[in-house]
Amino acid sequence: MKLKVLVVAGDGIGPEVMNEGVAVLQDVAALSGIELELTHKRIGGVAIVQDGTPLPQETIDAALASDAVLLGAVGGNEFNSLSPDKRPEAGLLKIRSVLGGFANLRPAFAFKELAANSPLRPEIIDGADILFVRELLGGLYFGQPREWNKEKQEAFNTMRYTRDEVVRVARIAFQLAQKRKKKLTSVDKANVLETSQLWRATVNEVAAEFPDVTVEHQYVDAMSMHLMNRPKDFDVVLTENLFGDILTDESGVITGSLGMLPSATVGGKINLYEPIHGSAPDIAGKGLANPCGAIMTIAMLLRHTASMEKEAAAIETAIRQLLAEGYRTPDLVRGKDHGFKVLSTHEVGEKVREKVKQLLAASR
Ligand code: NAD
Ligand code: IPM
Ligand code: MN
Repeated sequence: MKLKVLVVAGDGIGPEVMNEGVAVLQDVAALSGIELELTHKRIGGVAIVQDGTPLPQETIDAALASDAVLLGAVGGNEFNSLSPDKRPEAGLLKIRSVLGGFANLRPAFAFKELAANSPLRPEIIDGADILFVRELLGGLYFGQPREWNKEKQEAFNTMRYTRDEVVRVARIAFQLAQKRKKKLTSVDKANVLETSQLWRATVNEVAAEFPDVTVEHQYVDAMSMHLMNRPKDFDVVLTENLFGDILTDESGVITGSLGMLPSATVGGKINLYEPIHGSAPDIAGKGLANPCGAIMTIAMLLRHTASMEKEAAAIETAIRQLLAEGYRTPDLVRGKDHGFKVLSTHEVGEKVREKVKQLLAASR
């Protein structure tokens, strides 16, 4: 099998964590006889500096010619005063819309190996396993009109959804729920917003196609609390773009760190894989970043684009094993001193590769 992957590592810790992810992917490919063709292109702040735009045409062309796109992170403090359409983040939103994936899958599960590091009590998070399905191409992020009118001293954005946009992402969420615990929670703000009323009515319509899946609706404010109080009650959580952005960072608390969370965006021409965290300018360049989210993003790529379930599972097991052995990046060292062994970004990457090799050799 041949696998063509475009890597757009971006800014800040993006290249640091993506180096580790790509090294794992290269090892897996070599061990499984996959012909891996990797291409690297610019996106975000580095592209603004070198190409004058956050998403050069060359990057778009390479993305459209690949089987999957792997993204690190974009953004940097030096670009914070630019208008939204000129910022590094605009490059990310554009590549999302060019690739066309509208369903952003963000799994968040508790690692029992990290129970002692969580700000939540072990009995609250133990066994929690949520799959967020975040709508990625609609809502406030893309709605027109939008403007900051400096003369009038006013600004506005538009939250807009069509029924079809809700139907297509809801179907994906219901299908995923059928393969899991058959429970779907749809999150909205239907007590205030028309877009959410359309959202809720449409989710109920789609629910009729999936009678084996139980559906509940939650308002987003209450949901942000339920997630911390009783994360184990949720299985698939379906929500719109901005609510999903916020709730998935919050779910980093269930997992142990934002740096542990991967994502896959499906439904479009080409799947896009990215850890959910940002460029973390506060720790960039110091070897402090947790590469596990990026490495688990590789597992999602192997699972969803290459149908390599065994290899994907080996990566996830390797991460569990190194956590069980007490290895941690600094973001995971919280609470009492349990004698954790603190490693750099690269050292964690090396440990994962060592273990993945052992696991795959043992499964031959
Ligand atoms: P962030 O996700 O970069 O960081 C939030 C906090 O989590 C920081 O304290 C950071 O040090 C920590 N953190 C994040 N990832 C980590 C990791 N892998 N290991 C250890 N600690 C980690 O969010 P922010 O600080 O709000 O935003 C910084 C920049 O990143 C902004 O420009 C923002 O727009 C951008 N951003 C980009 C993406 C993306 O490219 N997908 C996602 C989110 C934010
Ligand atoms: C994410 C990020 C992005 C988003 C930003 C950087 C555009 O926060 O991937 O979660 O809001 O989608
Ligand atoms: Mn986010």
